[in-house]
Amino acid sequence: MKILVSDPLHEKGIQIFKDQGFEVEIKTGLSPEDLHQAIKGVDGLVIRSATQVNKELLEAADLLKVVGRADTGLDNVDIPAATEHGVVVMNTPGQNSNAAAELAMGHIFALSRHIARGNRGIKDGKWEKKQLRGRELKGKTLGIVGMGNIGRILAELGIGVKMRVIGFDPFLDDAEIKARGAEPVPYEDLLAQADYISIHVPKTTETTNLFSEANLAKMKDGAYLINCARGGIVDEVALCDALSSGKLAGAALDVFEVEPLPADSRLIYADDLTCTPHLGANTFEAQENVAVAVANQMSAYLKGGPAEFAVNDPKK
Ligand code: MLT
Repeated sequence: MKILVSDPLHEKGIQIFKDQGFEVEIKTGLSPEDLHQAIKGVDGLVIRSATQVNKELLEAADLLKVVGRADTGLDNVDIPAATEHGVVVMNTPGQNSNAAAELAMGHIFALSRHIARGNRGIKDGKWEKKQLRGRELKGKTLGIVGMGNIGRILAELGIGVKMRVIGFDPFLDDAEIKARGAEPVPYEDLLAQADYISIHVPKTTETTNLFSEANLAKMKDGAYLINCARGGIVDEVALCDALSSGKLAGAALDVFEVEPLPADSRLIYADDLTCTPHLGANTFEAQENVAVAVANQMSAYLKGGPAEFAVNDPKK
């Protein structure tokens, strides 16, 4: 059986497929037309964020049984179309959660102590000691929206620096949120109480624009907002307004409505906004974890085993 790897994958994942007896083709950066050719005769497709698994690709595939995303997000896969074509879609939840939680915590530290702005100032020849007085995290309230794998790890990190941690997650009951390290609160209370809000939910129709102008206005004055989840969950224009009016003290974005972030984006000019280029899962450790996990899961499924971490069930 044949595996096509269409986005970069850690070599340990490739080796697992080979050890399991699969033929592996690595063809990254293909145009849609070339991908439509390359998918012929392929049983399993491994992707990360670049490959778009849409109706056209699924129609071009003749033997495809499984698509595995070596990551968590599945925004680039048309899951209903995959189901229609009898293709299982699976991801590797949890394997890059530590990386994402550590980045969110890094942004929280960086915002509180103006690390990015201090660095930029020095490189521009400025010594902004007086302007960049920071805040300590100890005793402040960290609000986590989404208490899944990443939210749970971030809660531990917050507690580690003596923050009060509150959490909101409509899919978990209060006892489970508590077990994951946060005091459960309704969304509106989290907005009103948190000094720092970090977002860890997938992008869905419910979470798109969750941080709208109206909801940003409900945040505590002088609070900070961190989004290492998905672009589009925060209204970027409203966020810029909340920063320039002083409603929010700062924000950090690792993800954007349009990626890569356009060079003329207003976000670039917001002084109290720290940006990183979608680095949440981008650690050596996480990249190895997701590659090993996706290779094991897909190999098992193609050899007649269970479809672990499948998000659809084409047999239904
Ligand atoms: C994820 O969904 O796991 C990450 O956002 C993947 C990525 O870095 O593109």
